[in-house]
Amino acid sequence: MRHSVFSLLLGAISLITPAVVSGLEFTVSLEQDGKTVDASKLQFVKIPSLRHRRRGHRNATTTTTTRQHENAKRGNNNISYSDNWCGASSRSDDADPIRNVFGYFTVPDLKLRPTGGAPQFAAAWIGIDGAKCNQTLLQAGVTTVVNSNGGQSASAWWEWYPGAAYSIANLPVKPGDWVSVNITAHNATSGRIIVTNAQRGYSMTLNLTSGPKLCRWDVEWILEDFYEAESNKQVPFASFQDLWFLDTEATTVRGKNIGINGAAMVHLMDPKGKVLCQAEKYDDANFVITSH
Ligand SMILES: *[C@@H]1O[C@H](CO)[C@@H](O)[C@H](O)[C@H]1NC(C)=O
Ligand SMILES: *[C@@H]1O[C@H](CO)[C@@H](O)[C@H](O)[C@H]1NC(C)=O
Ligand SMILES: *[C@@H]1O[C@H](CO)[C@@H](O)[C@H](O)[C@H]1NC(C)=O
Ligand SMILES: *[C@@H]1O[C@H](CO)[C@@H](O)[C@H](O)[C@H]1NC(C)=O
Ligand SMILES: *[C@@H]1O[C@H](CO)[C@@H](O)[C@H](O)[C@H]1NC(C)=O
Ligand SMILES: *[C@@H]1O[C@H](CO)[C@@H](O)[C@H](O)[C@H]1NC(C)=O
Repeated sequence: MRHSVFSLLLGAISLITPAVVSGLEFTVSLEQDGKTVDASKLQFVKIPSLRHRRRGHRNATTTTTTRQHENAKRGNNNISYSDNWCGASSRSDDADPIRNVFGYFTVPDLKLRPTGGAPQFAAAWIGIDGAKCNQTLLQAGVTTVVNSNGGQSASAWWEWYPGAAYSIANLPVKPGDWVSVNITAHNATSGRIIVTNAQRGYSMTLNLTSGPKLCRWDVEWILEDFYEAESNKQVPFASFQDLWFLDTEATTVRGKNIGINGAAMVHLMDPKGKVLCQAEKYDDANFVITSH
């Protein structure tokens, strides 16, 4: 099935202004060049056609690069494979739940894979839960699409699953821009998402209450080959410039930083066993995702 880029990214358009969406209540503020400006120009556009999920991953049996071998020797590697994402994932527990997750990363800068048709896609995001706690996931990130002539467009979005995903119209993001995402869970049903594009001078703060109950067990920093909802098929996954996640941290209620130290590093492997996307730790706060 082929969709126009526009319909796939925006789906059946329904604009909402900050208020209430299916029980979830929110307020939003916008800063432009350090000054608070009218946030009503930030419209959230429901994207019913996409599903951003992390599916389970399985342990790796092989390592593929020199750095991975070196890391493995230091007992510093924990690689596994997923069929829809690559990146890093860490876990806390009931006794000391997650409070906050942060990372600084580039908006995916894509190139068409010679096979796979057009358009092709990749979504970079950060989230709380969605793994061991699979009934809910609070997440925000950016999606880029590249079409047949190599032209790209990107958009920022947020989602509190099982609620819908919303693209954030009028928050400018371009492939290669450095953005940060900061997600806080004040408690199981209340949180805050801050998406900043310092390069273009924008920062959005979204306070959310009455959300679907979080467990606050898992955090992740992900590049995803997401699903198209109607067909439940993955969209064609583009190739991309190295994508770094920098200054990653995940703090617990007791103030522990669980970060990517000890995180599972996950590669994306397609059904034919080809690795398309690989995550490698650089140090305890930074890692890089490379295209294959
Ligand atoms: C979000 O909540 C914090 C306090 O918890 C407040 O300082 C901030 O102004 C709120 N932002 C919005 C957009 O409501
Ligand atoms: C992955 O390996 C860990 C130990 O390194 C083990 O505890 C876990 O059960 C394994 N998971 C799978 C899915 O094989
Ligand atoms: C969530 O996990 C439970 C138990 O681990 C499993 O039975 C259920 O099928 C999972 N749900 C989804 C949507 O993956
Ligand atoms: C993330 O946002 C929270 C406030 O919601 C703040 O306390 C924390 O310092 C921020 N983290 C980073 C790394 O900016
Ligand atoms: C969760 O935190 C929010 C914001 O701090 C607060 O307004 C709300 O009452 C809290 N809810 C519960 C159940 O503690
Ligand atoms: C590897 O990651 C898994 C989470 O997927 C975690 O349960 C396990 O403890 C990690 N192992 C090491 C050695 O860090």
